[in-house]
Amino acid sequence: MIPESKIVLGTVQFGLDYGVNNRIGKPTEHDVKSILDFAHEQGITTIDTATAYGDSEIVLGNYFKKDGYSFEVISKLDSTSSSTLTDSLQTSLDRLQIKNLYAYLYHSFESMERRYGEDQSEINEVVSGGFVQKIGVSVYTNEELEKSLNYSEIKIIQVPFNLLDNHIQRGKYFKRAHELGIEIHTRSAFLQGLFFKPIEEIPESLSALKPALKHIREITKRYNTNLETIALWYVCKQELIDKVLIGVDSLTQLQKNIRSLHVILPNDVMLEIEGIIIDNPALLYPSNWKL
Ligand SMILES: NC(=O)c1ccc[n+]([C@@H]2O[C@H](COP(=O)([O-])OP(=O)(O)OC[C@H]3O[C@@H](n4cnc5c(N)ncnc54)[C@H](OP(=O)(O)O)[C@@H]3O)[C@@H](O)[C@H]2O)c1
Repeated sequence: MIPESKIVLGTVQFGLDYGVNNRIGKPTEHDVKSILDFAHEQGITTIDTATAYGDSEIVLGNYFKKDGYSFEVISKLDSTSSSTLTDSLQTSLDRLQIKNLYAYLYHSFESMERRYGEDQSEINEVVSGGFVQKIGVSVYTNEELEKSLNYSEIKIIQVPFNLLDNHIQRGKYFKRAHELGIEIHTRSAFLQGLFFKPIEEIPESLSALKPALKHIREITKRYNTNLETIALWYVCKQELIDKVLIGVDSLTQLQKNIRSLHVILPNDVMLEIEGIIIDNPALLYPSNWKL
């Protein structure tokens, strides 16, 4: 069984119309409250947001103000921001209506690389002042992941990881991060919802992924399980991953996902998944998709 505390609830879905199969848009503030209350009651203690996620920080701030449960919050510095790190952080804290964050991440490797030298003294001040416990970065590629290990103040790296973007590609960097005491947080467990899309609706531009997506469905059938279970089980089982972000746009999706944490699958499934190799990793980054 996977502990619920390993899950981080992502909240881009609360601020933007998001998700590959999403036909209903953002959840209402009432729905957001049900999702957050349920998450907390199930043992999820951390949520992930960003200034760039539409009004996600404001929606969360309204929840906290109306006596919502407390969570450890991770937010991100907008990659295009020209404000100082301290000012950007304060804007996020004001929108969230809280006094400190668990972590503040650069939203891209590129923005960290560009700003890091200038930001260094502010990083020390916001950490020692108790406004944020850890500074981190969100990356996409293994090259970015590897380079991020050399930034001494970076204590969290958030990176995609899932059934197709798996241990074979990422494992050795996670091991190194662990040795350096850097937390690994993964996102994209459901590939932004693509795993749930019927194969016949996969667009032409992603047709190279179809054999792998079919393979996953076939494994799911053979082991009498479902897509959310296999997707979450595979990521959560990785010992070198500290936190697994998942996004939902309804309470029903979260309930299904939490239920699937209680399922145990045989280790053969792990080996089979790791046999799936995607030749063109760029296809696995939703920012490259034209759906
Ligand atoms: N740092 C970054 O650059 C970055 C980028 C993106 C996201 N994030 C963070 O990561 C979080 C997760 O986003 P992600 O892109 O990684 O998404 P994900 O968790 O891979 O997929 C989330 C989507 O999967 C679908 N879904 C979830 N549970 C389901 C279920 N049980 N049955 C059917 N469909 C289900 C929903 O899409 P449908 O609407 O299609 O149903 C949901 O929006 C975000 O909320 C955000 O906090 C960070």
